[in-house]
Amino acid sequence: MHVLRSRILGTGKSVPERRLTNFDLEKMVETSDQWIVDRTGIRERRILEEGRTTSDLAAAAGKAALEAAELSPSQLDAIVVATISPDSPLPACAVAVQRKIGAQGCPAFDAAAACAGFIYGLAIGDAFVRSGSWKRVLIIGVEVLSRYVDWNDRNTCVLFGDGAGAVILGVSDDKDDKGLPRGILSTHLFADGNLEDALAIPAGGVTIPSSPASLEARQHYIKMNGKTVFVHAVRNLSRAAQVALDANGKTRADVDLVVGHQANQRILEAVSEKTQIPFSKFFLNIQKYGNTSSASIPIALDEAVREGKVKTGDLLLFAALGAGFSWGSALVRW
Ligand code: UT7
Repeated sequence: MHVLRSRILGTGKSVPERRLTNFDLEKMVETSDQWIVDRTGIRERRILEEGRTTSDLAAAAGKAALEAAELSPSQLDAIVVATISPDSPLPACAVAVQRKIGAQGCPAFDAAAACAGFIYGLAIGDAFVRSGSWKRVLIIGVEVLSRYVDWNDRNTCVLFGDGAGAVILGVSDDKDDKGLPRGILSTHLFADGNLEDALAIPAGGVTIPSSPASLEARQHYIKMNGKTVFVHAVRNLSRAAQVALDANGKTRADVDLVVGHQANQRILEAVSEKTQIPFSKFFLNIQKYGNTSSASIPIALDEAVREGKVKTGDLLLFAALGAGFSWGSALVRW
């Protein structure tokens, strides 16, 4: 029986021009470049200019991915936007993206799974392509968390940044030089809602609607227990990586490149130690962008591809964890 498979046909990214360095942050909160670099690996992050929105960044990344895949917007069967910082609660950010890139009529919706959003989006796109329903899907991870960060809170404001990354997923029966099928080999998604308070924006929804009191209490900003997130990230990213390898009969030695969620360099180092995948195989760009949540993996992937670090037939491992906790992994033969 012929098995349908999806493959990443093109990648793109868009990041704001404005850089906020650790030295800039030293003037805003009680922190230091040394502390931020030592504890996280971050040196600077991008901040979206006033007047621009999430869908502007997402559309720019989407257009770049379409160009790389040599496709026109009208050839898209669907648009999935992974984000927790959309233009507004209603409608979905994806419909603004559809309009801005000029892809009329195709289904367009958002997927919210925090920093794991892109892997969730990829899994959705892959499932629809394999079912035969869609032939080409634009999947975007985009965040403008600078608008949700408490710039008085040094525990969180040094970590996050803005950006968008995108891929075009398309039906494919391409093979690599060894005759092995190229494309998404597997996706695995997980969630555990027991620790939802460890990373949350408490107000602005139904539980705590916006009010002068909620604003006064600064409940509209990201609140995080960094240590709890760190411990679960290392454990669950390592497990999800192993699940991806086991499901495909692969071992750590088969992995050519890990494109992991860029939340903290020390988390990725610990995952490298736990999985025994050498750290030299982990792509790193956290120093330039900080944690861009659902945009993190597609931005990193786009940079790895454009820097020539990915070759046909390479085995790529994606893994991300974020608020929820929600996490997942994907194994891809390029
Ligand atoms: O995508 C998922 C989203 N989030 C994450 O993945 C974040 C996961 N967590 C982390 O990355 C780390 O826990 C942090 C980077 C947030 C913190 O690193 P840590 O090594 O766990 O530091 P810590 O929480 O143990 O804090 C050490 C000290 C504390 O001071 P005391 O209590 O020991 O006196 C903090 O108050 O560092 C202090 N601190 C800072 N100092 C300077 C916290 N933030 C800062 C700061 N600058 N920005």
